[in-house]
Amino acid sequence: APATPLDLDNIQGDLLSGLPKKTQTYFFFAITNVAKFRHHLHKLVPYIKTVAGVLKDRDAIDHHKKNKHPGLVPMTGVNISFSHKGFVKLGIDDSSLAPLGDEDPFKTGQQVDAVTNLGDPKKSDGKPDWDSHFLEDIHGLILISGESHLSVEKKELEIELLFGVHTLEASIKKIIAIRGDVRPGAESGHEHFGFLDGISNPAIIGFDKNPDPGPVPVQPGVLLTGQNGDNKADGTPNTRAPWATDGSFLAFRYLFQQVPEFDEFLKKNPIAKDGNGNVLTPEAGSDLLGARMVGRWKSGAPIDLAPFKDDPVLAADPKRNNDFFFQGEINSQLRCPFAAHVRKTNPRNDLEAPPSGIAPIPIESRRIMRRGIQFGPELTKHENTSGKTEHGRGLLFACYQSSIPNGFQFLQQSWANNDKFPPFETQPEDPGLDPLIGQGVRAMSGLDPLAEQKVLAMPQFIIPKGGEYFFAPSIKGLKDTIAA
Ligand code: HEM
Repeated sequence: APATPLDLDNIQGDLLSGLPKKTQTYFFFAITNVAKFRHHLHKLVPYIKTVAGVLKDRDAIDHHKKNKHPGLVPMTGVNISFSHKGFVKLGIDDSSLAPLGDEDPFKTGQQVDAVTNLGDPKKSDGKPDWDSHFLEDIHGLILISGESHLSVEKKELEIELLFGVHTLEASIKKIIAIRGDVRPGAESGHEHFGFLDGISNPAIIGFDKNPDPGPVPVQPGVLLTGQNGDNKADGTPNTRAPWATDGSFLAFRYLFQQVPEFDEFLKKNPIAKDGNGNVLTPEAGSDLLGARMVGRWKSGAPIDLAPFKDDPVLAADPKRNNDFFFQGEINSQLRCPFAAHVRKTNPRNDLEAPPSGIAPIPIESRRIMRRGIQFGPELTKHENTSGKTEHGRGLLFACYQSSIPNGFQFLQQSWANNDKFPPFETQPEDPGLDPLIGQGVRAMSGLDPLAEQKVLAMPQFIIPKGGEYFFAPSIKGLKDTIAA
């Protein structure tokens, strides 16, 4: 089909542009009265921030900065999405959203997927070992983002009022609301282990006009249902009901991070010498170990370009900090381990442009749009000295894609949890698991640049405590079908 311009007034803002945020509340709800809910949802529609709305907000932020106004521009952004259980409750036929039928992870729900495919630890009753709220039937998720707690809390109250929460008119029940916060000061933009996050997301053809150098831009349908590139695993287009156009699937994961334990692990296993044979101080050796687990330094500089020494200037340069492809390294972990988090979750030329004689594997359909935000407090002194986590903290992981089996589920199950990926016969050793998110027998090779075959075992630093799969519909889908 010929490409038509994307309708930015019809697409929820978090999908393409990301809701601007310093803080964000994830409000998980169950529908208690269907007729009232439809009525209330109609009233919510004008609150939804679209992509066009986010672009206006960004202009306002730029204007504010340019004129050197103090503080932040007050703003909030609301988005909404529904689980399969939510559509069932509403009596909406969502079969076109789950082309794999009963096996489709959107349809089974993440609670089932977690123990059958994602590798989450389970309890004796067969359910995942999760926070109990995520074992309830979650019908939907409202995201409320903003520049301050005051703005977001006010908006949350307004929305609760709109849905009659705590009154006889209630149409929903709050299951749990989780607040995420960008980390303070210089750690802003860094996840809790200390690494800069949110650098590499796919550029979208027809939306990102001047993408920075990096992986090739993807068709809009990798992200948006019903657009060019919304394909099955075999490359044939998915057939969606008309109301499902311009939506996206949201994979949410409630991921706790064991930060003091991660720091201790780095301290106990410093790399002795860099790849040129230079002896490293214990501190430098621990920093290099962490960078080789992630594939980037804490600054964000990719180790493929700065393999043995951090380069903060490179890290801060958007024209260079995502422009790497593991070129010429298909059989080598000298610069970057095969299992490093960013190489596992986006193997770039390892699959797309391998040396001649090896068939390329396109990975466009594997790209995901990561949003999400940190939750929980900064490390306390006591946690720092004891090396043990005492307060829950981590990542409210959220990513969008037009297909969960192509995107999030595939990355977690077939790449992160698979010790043989990336899979080349000419490789001298197995890569091992993704050292951040891999679940199973956790070990990886390639951490020591001078002894690539050496395998290092490691505990679980990231513990999944909940999650669900949602569909974030278009504004038309919300108005004409879901609220109708
Ligand atoms: C990139 C941390 C969970 C997929 C990154 C980066 C960091 C990071 C520091 C590098 C920054 C960047 O390239 O933007 C974490 C932490 C996690 C987590 C701390 C959990 C607490 C996940 C999960 C997935 C995932 C669950 C998917 C299954 C990705 C992808 C990239 C990435 C696709 C970009 C790779 C690239 O394009 O180079 N992550 N991550 N991450 N992560 Fe994660």
